[in-house]
Amino acid sequence: MKKEFDIDTILRHNIKNLTPYSSARDEYKGKEGIFLDANENSYGSPLPSPAGEGPGVRSYNRYPDPLQLELKEKISKIKGLPIENIFLGNGSDEAIDILFRAFCRPAIDNAIICPPTYGMYEVSANINDVEVRKVNLLPETFQLDTTGILKTINQNTRLFFVCCPNNPTGNGVKWADIKTVLENFNGIVVVDEAYINFAGYRSLIPELLNYPNLVILQTLSKAWGMAGLRVGMAFASQQIIDVFNKVKPPYNINSVSQQIALEALENIAQVNDWIKTIVSERGKLAAALEKFSFVKKIYPSEANFLLVKTEDPNKLYNYLVDAQIVVRNRSTVALCEGCLRMTIGTEKENQRLLDVLSSYK
Ligand SMILES: Cc1ncc(COP(=O)(O)O)c(C=O)c1O
Repeated sequence: MKKEFDIDTILRHNIKNLTPYSSARDEYKGKEGIFLDANENSYGSPLPSPAGEGPGVRSYNRYPDPLQLELKEKISKIKGLPIENIFLGNGSDEAIDILFRAFCRPAIDNAIICPPTYGMYEVSANINDVEVRKVNLLPETFQLDTTGILKTINQNTRLFFVCCPNNPTGNGVKWADIKTVLENFNGIVVVDEAYINFAGYRSLIPELLNYPNLVILQTLSKAWGMAGLRVGMAFASQQIIDVFNKVKPPYNINSVSQQIALEALENIAQVNDWIKTIVSERGKLAAALEKFSFVKKIYPSEANFLLVKTEDPNKLYNYLVDAQIVVRNRSTVALCEGCLRMTIGTEKENQRLLDVLSSYK
């Protein structure tokens, strides 16, 4: 049965009453015409054309499509979701920030996060002066403490964040536990699926039909290999997506990112090949790392990184930096004591990591 959800009970009044900025390109949708409406430079961009191309090939003098409809059409086909259920942000970090701005009253409302997890949920909350309530994941299994979470929710809890697969632990979080929160919480449940392409289970996208309070985050920054473009995705009920669109800056995804993302999304076969290779390298790297005596534990991973527990993480971290290998030191993070997080690199990079580690004393 579909969950009841009244967005007006949690939407901030200023957002509910907001008249969003209406850009010149919101008013006229045609592609042809003489555009004297947006105070752009009608002459072009001062960029040389690539050899053999005529003038104007690299023209960025026009503002981009504010709603990124062409790109959304493409994503809609890949994800099997109508475009009304898709928001695109300047990275998923923008979607995270908009959730706080739209749904949490500064100094009044709160959001629940489950450390150890992705750091931007807390940073975004702090920027927006929103209280963060932390309910740690259960030690070692890194699953949700649902009893603790349900006890922590109060009448001012607006957002609940869960990252699945989780960064930095790498594990998937049980659907039954996420479902318990979805069913017992009248705020928004955000499931961050940045690493879903590397997992052995499927996205929760089909659950959007049952849970109008569910927001799923994905990104082109990980498996899709386009972190530099800054394109993040949020999937949710139309009422939530409408709020995102109302609050976002008018031209939040630039023209170059829209164009290149469109081109790259044609190449799913390449991405699927990389995913297979990365997952296989993840297994090989874990097996090889396990053999080192200074490695105490490697946590099972459904992502493109491994969380590795070692005897002296700072010493190992510095040793790797001296060899120009940069990993992420997570040893000061609660429940990750002793741990370094290592992204799966290319086969050559992983081999170099292992070679360097074999000389570590
Ligand atoms: C769990 C998680 N969510 C979101 C992001 C950020 O994604 P984006 O590049 O789309 O802002 C990251 C980046 O490391 C991440 O680990």
